[in-house]
Amino acid sequence: MTERVILGSDHGGFQLKCEIIKHLKEQGYEVYDVGCYSEESCDYPVIAKAVVQEVLKTSDKAVLVCGTGIGMSIAANRFDGIRASHCTDTFSARMTRLHNDSNILCLGERITGTGLALDIVDIWMNTGFEGGRHKNRIDMI
Ligand code: RB5
Repeated sequence: MTERVILGSDHGGFQLKCEIIKHLKEQGYEVYDVGCYSEESCDYPVIAKAVVQEVLKTSDKAVLVCGTGIGMSIAANRFDGIRASHCTDTFSARMTRLHNDSNILCLGERITGTGLALDIVDIWMNTGFEGGRHKNRIDMI
């Protein structure tokens, strides 16, 4: 079955989100983009909430992009069941899947260049959760 990925950004992350969507589609992923759909100014908490609702409904993974990635991660992590990880390097992207079972990746278009961002996405998408003691710790959150 084709893996589905949910995408969302505000205006500050719109261009990087478009690159990520193109990259994921080239790899055969099905992509569901909840918005925004232009560089017109909009509010990242609204997009974060829409993505969170879809993640909680479907258990699909998601990528949220804003200017820094920070606003999106703050907003998404307000919801039970969401483990949103703001990553600016590939080591963190790998570890947050292995140990935190991260279900939303947050990126900052104004921080991370496209090449590195796509590597982060690839590693985050392709790394599994280790479970075991890490599951017990997640259950404590
Ligand atoms: C928008 O200017 C900017 O504040 C937003 O994209 C994000 O970086 C917030 O954390």
